[in-house]
Amino acid sequence: MGLNNKENEKAEFIIWTEKYSVENTVLDNQHKYLIKIINNLYNGTHGDEGQYNVKTIIDELWRYTDVHLKTEEKMLQNINYHQLDSHIQLHGEMVEKIKSWNLTSDCNEKEELTALLDFLKKWWTNHILIEDHKYVEFMQS
Ligand SMILES: [Fe+2]
Repeated sequence: MGLNNKENEKAEFIIWTEKYSVENTVLDNQHKYLIKIINNLYNGTHGDEGQYNVKTIIDELWRYTDVHLKTEEKMLQNINYHQLDSHIQLHGEMVEKIKSWNLTSDCNEKEELTALLDFLKKWWTNHILIEDHKYVEFMQS
């Protein structure tokens, strides 16, 4: 492993690769940043507490999830995406699920954070690969 660089030294919780690309630079960058926030949350709950403040990361996760969903939904509206309503519904279900964790009260519950991280990883990787790729196909047809 002679070409080790700093970024490869520590395995990240979620790694963005080309397979996640939705062929749109803005949305790809937003997905990458969301993954970065989730990775920070993971690191913050797995030993790097000093470097990553969990409360701050969760606030940023909320803020940026909203930014991203609005951007993506606007874009889908602009291209007259035929599955816009059901796609917006999927976004809403994710937001409601996270809200049900009640993380605003106390972000130090390790079990809740572990469940949240598990959910975030599964939801985002599945959503980008399957649901978002449906609009990629739509754009290309
Ligand atoms: Fe989406």
